[in-house]
Amino acid sequence: MTERIVLAYSGGLDTSVAIGWIGEATGAEVIAVAVDVGQGGESLEDIRQRALACGAVEAYVADARDEFANEYAMPTLKANALYQGHYPLVSAISRPVIVKHLVKAAREFGATTVSHGCTGKGNDQVRFEVGIQTLGPDLKCIAPVRDLALTRDKAIAFAEAKGLPIETTKKNPYSIDQNVWGRAVETGYLEDIWNAPTKDIYDYTATPEFPPAPDEVIISFHQGVPVAIDGVKVSPLQAIQELNRRAGAQGVGRIDVVEDRLVGIKSREIYEAPGAMALITAHKHLEDITIEREQARFKATVSQRWAELVYDGQWFSPLKRSLDAFIEDTQKYVSGDIRMTMHGGQAIVNGRRSDTSLYDFDLATYDTGDTFDQSQAKGFIELWGMSSKVASRRDQRVQGL
Ligand code: ARG
Repeated sequence: MTERIVLAYSGGLDTSVAIGWIGEATGAEVIAVAVDVGQGGESLEDIRQRALACGAVEAYVADARDEFANEYAMPTLKANALYQGHYPLVSAISRPVIVKHLVKAAREFGATTVSHGCTGKGNDQVRFEVGIQTLGPDLKCIAPVRDLALTRDKAIAFAEAKGLPIETTKKNPYSIDQNVWGRAVETGYLEDIWNAPTKDIYDYTATPEFPPAPDEVIISFHQGVPVAIDGVKVSPLQAIQELNRRAGAQGVGRIDVVEDRLVGIKSREIYEAPGAMALITAHKHLEDITIEREQARFKATVSQRWAELVYDGQWFSPLKRSLDAFIEDTQKYVSGDIRMTMHGGQAIVNGRRSDTSLYDFDLATYDTGDTFDQSQAKGFIELWGMSSKVASRRDQRVQGL
């Protein structure tokens, strides 16, 4: 029986060419797999037809937008995950959901190998292949760009020679990856890290320098998940989409960073994640009133580690799963409303309310009705500073100060 390979297919030039390229290089039949994670653009049906026209024996398409929002974006929100304090893991969280569908398609169509269009320099090859190894340990991986010398020039020549139904003249100077959680743009002019991004780079966000009138929004959460916007019930996917529109119009969520890739290099990336950043901001502020201090402090370190694991392609790892259990437990009381003004590139919280809040007005107030017993502060401070004071006495004795 002819060997079969499933290919992560975007519908673009490189993966369209990869269908025939892999076929010629390996003699295998190629099954194209297209997964909708809210990247927009063409319909899944158009992508399916192109895959078949480019020589795929089967095409598997999946609308994974809700799955992606519920099972990948929401855990990222609950973690307030920002890699290196900046990046809401846009591409990093889309790979594992695509991997799930690749493995599923491999089973359905009897494939032995999984293929993706990544280069050998990035994080995404790692995320795909570590994910595939984990979910389908018997499956092999192949990357035509990296392993079968499929360069851009060769791709164009191949598409023209075979008359593939794909645009070869449009030259986008940037490498772009996008989904409903955000958009990532790199290469070209941006590789000079002193160059400011030009306006044409952005698509999810309007220029924050010329914002429309401020937009005030109330986001309601239940156990860490957005459930309503301005009182209207929403699904996680709808919450992200709605805030992509509204926060995007205000220029919220533009990020320009030089980040540490897993393969050891620093690279410049421009992100725009209006919905994600608006939601993370609101969610964090709700946590501030609903999560106990020590749990909150510890959660910040867990979140950082979580973001690193996810960035590094360890979505399906045991440690990531354990951290998920911790994060999930912290979300039990993260329910309530956050009011936020979005304007000029910023989303600023200006009100919060929750039935499970730990904010105690009577303890906090400086007005009458104060129930905080200030007389206890003196003794508390005495003991709180005790160990440093003892150590300091020792230092002075030893150093003869
Ligand atoms: N650097 C980001 C990451 O590793 C985004 C990569 C997305 N690719 C792109 N072509 N911009 O998660």
